[in-house]
Amino acid sequence: MRAVVCHEYGPPSSLVVEEHPDPAPAHDGVVVAVEAAGVNFVDGLFVGGRYQIKPPLPFVPGNEVAGTIVEVGGGVEGWQVGDRVLASVGLGGFASAVAVAAEAISPVPQGMSAGAAAAFTQSYCTALFALRDRARIRPGEQLLVLGAAGGVGLAAVGVGKALGARVLAAASSPARLERCVAAGADATIDYSAGDLKDAARAESGGGVDVVLDPVGGDLSEPALRALGELGRLCVIGFARGDIPRLPTNQVLLRNRAVVGVDWGAWAMRDPAAQRALLDDALAMTGRGEITPPEPTTYPLERAGDALDDLLEHRLIGKAVLAP
Ligand SMILES: NC(=O)c1ccc[n+]([C@@H]2O[C@H](COP(=O)([O-])OP(=O)(O)OC[C@H]3O[C@@H](n4cnc5c(N)ncnc54)[C@H](OP(=O)(O)O)[C@@H]3O)[C@@H](O)[C@H]2O)c1
Repeated sequence: MRAVVCHEYGPPSSLVVEEHPDPAPAHDGVVVAVEAAGVNFVDGLFVGGRYQIKPPLPFVPGNEVAGTIVEVGGGVEGWQVGDRVLASVGLGGFASAVAVAAEAISPVPQGMSAGAAAAFTQSYCTALFALRDRARIRPGEQLLVLGAAGGVGLAAVGVGKALGARVLAAASSPARLERCVAAGADATIDYSAGDLKDAARAESGGGVDVVLDPVGGDLSEPALRALGELGRLCVIGFARGDIPRLPTNQVLLRNRAVVGVDWGAWAMRDPAAQRALLDDALAMTGRGEITPPEPTTYPLERAGDALDDLLEHRLIGKAVLAP
C-alpha cells in the first residue's frame, strides 16, 4: 500500500509518500481500501508536533477515511468484503489501505460519495452536538453561523436547516458565501464588508437565537451582541488564531448564555453516546435531510498542499485525499 509518512515534526511539505506492506485485519477488525481520507486542522497539528499528544515518529497522519472493506477478521460478524464504510482511525488514514476495529466503522448512506463520507464525521458530529444537544435549537429559531463556508460551518448550515432553523450564513468573501447559499443558507452576511452585529440584527429583525462560532478572534464579541433574548453563543474553535475575551455584561443582558462545545473530548469519554450521535447524523443524511457538499479532492502525493491550503486559509469547504 501507499502511505503519507511524517518522519519529523515540521511543515506539511516535509511529508513523503512511501510504499508499505499491506495491513492485515485484527481478529475483531477489518481492512478498508481507502477511497478518500478527510483532511482536518488537527492533522496539521500532529504533523507539526503541536498537538497535546505527539505520536512517535515515523507515523502516518489522517483520522477520517471512507472506502470499501477488502478483508474481514475472524471474529467479526455483520460486515463483509465489498461493504462501503466510513471510519475514524485516529492515525494512519492518509494511505491506500488501513486496518480498523469493526466497532469503529459505519455504513456509508446510499448515494453518498466517498469524498463526502470521509469529510463527514468531525464536522457533522460537531454541528449536530452543538446545535441539537448543547444549544437545544428549536424549529423557527434563527441561527447565525460564522465561518459558514468552512468545514464545521457548512455542516452547521445543513444541520441547522434540518433542525428547522432559519440560517444566516456569515463568511469573509462573496465566493465563500456562494457555497453557503448552495448548502441551503436563507441569508448571507459578508463580515469583511461591514459590522457583523448590525448586519445580523438587521437580517434577523432584532437579534438571532443561536450563534455557532468556529472562528473566534474579533468576530466573537459582535456575534454575542447580535444575540436576542435567551440567545446562546456556541464556542466551537478559534480558526483566526486569537482566543477572544468576552464582556460578561453582554451575557447578562437579554439573559444570554455562552455554551462550550468540546465534541472530541466528549466523544472519547462516552463512545456509546458518540456512536448514537454519528448514527443520527448518518440517518439524517440517508433520509435526505442533510446533503453534505462535495469536498475538494487532492491526490495522496499532494497531502502537504492540502494541509497547507487548509492551514493558510485558501480552502473553501473541506478537503480529502484520494489514494
Ligand atoms: N470544539 C469542537 O468540538 C471542534 C470540532 C471540530 C473543529 N473544531 C475547531 O473549529 C475550528 C474550525 O474548524 P473547521 O473545520 O470549520 O476549519 P476551517 O474550515 O479550516 O475554518 C473555518 C473558517 O474559519 C476561517 N478561517 C480559517 N482559517 C483561517 C485563518 N488562517 N485566518 C482567518 N480565518 C480563518 C474561515 O472562514 P472565513 O474566512 O469566512 O472567516 C474558514 O471557513 C478549528 O479551530 C477546529 O480545530 C472544534
